[in-house]
Amino acid sequence: MEANLSQIVSDIDVQHQHLKKLVNDLKDCDHVHLVPMLEELTTLLDDHFMRETCAGGLYDAVGAKSMEHQEEVERLEREHVLMSSACRGLLARAKLAAESAEHALLLELREVMKCLADHEKRENNMVNRLLNA
Ligand SMILES: [Fe+2]
Ligand SMILES: [Fe+2]
Repeated sequence: MEANLSQIVSDIDVQHQHLKKLVNDLKDCDHVHLVPMLEELTTLLDDHFMRETCAGGLYDAVGAKSMEHQEEVERLEREHVLMSSACRGLLARAKLAAESAEHALLLELREVMKCLADHEKRENNMVNRLLNA
């Protein structure tokens, strides 16, 4: 089971690094890059969250290793739905926003990116606890 979890963690590591960089860049994003970067993020999140929650994905491997983390995994899964929807909403609004409305949008974007960074950090800590147990 551990080999399975280690393998999955290593398989999605490149994607986790990509996501981390994008989240960081988006925190300081200006209006010129907002729409293309949000498009990149929503595409990446669709694939990333699917790879974590699909049958045989990261969360299945965590559950197979220990049921102790069931509640934590369920919370992370609920956060996927909320964050996907928040990012899609931001993208839709960014496409329509006049420059004057973009300040509020960028502030909101920073908050969503903080939530996403926090989600990834807790997820990573959970996986590391299991791998080092
Ligand atoms: Fe996740
Ligand atoms: Fe993740």
